[in-house]
Amino acid sequence: MITIRLRKNGPYVVDSDEASVVDWNGQEYRVERRPIALCRCGASTKKPFCDGTHSRVGFEAAEAAIGPEAQDKPAT
Ligand code: FES
Repeated sequence: MITIRLRKNGPYVVDSDEASVVDWNGQEYRVERRPIALCRCGASTKKPFCDGTHSRVGFEAAEAAIGPEAQDKPAT
C-alpha cells in the first residue's frame, strides 16, 4: 500500500519504494530521495519536488482531513 502524507503547510510525502513520478508525457523523473516530497505550494525551484521553499514563502495549506478522531497537530 502506498501512503501519501500531507505535511502541515508543506509537501505531499509519498512513502513507497515502488512509486515513480512521471510527467504528462509519461516521462519518468529521476527520484533522488525517498520518501518522495512533492511540492504543494507551487514555489519550489525543483518542481515537482519540494525544495523547502514553502517555509520561506509562508505557505498555508487547506484544512486537514475531517474524521471522528481527527486532531490537528502542530507543523513539524
Ligand atoms: S511544498 Fe515545499 S517547496 Fe512547495
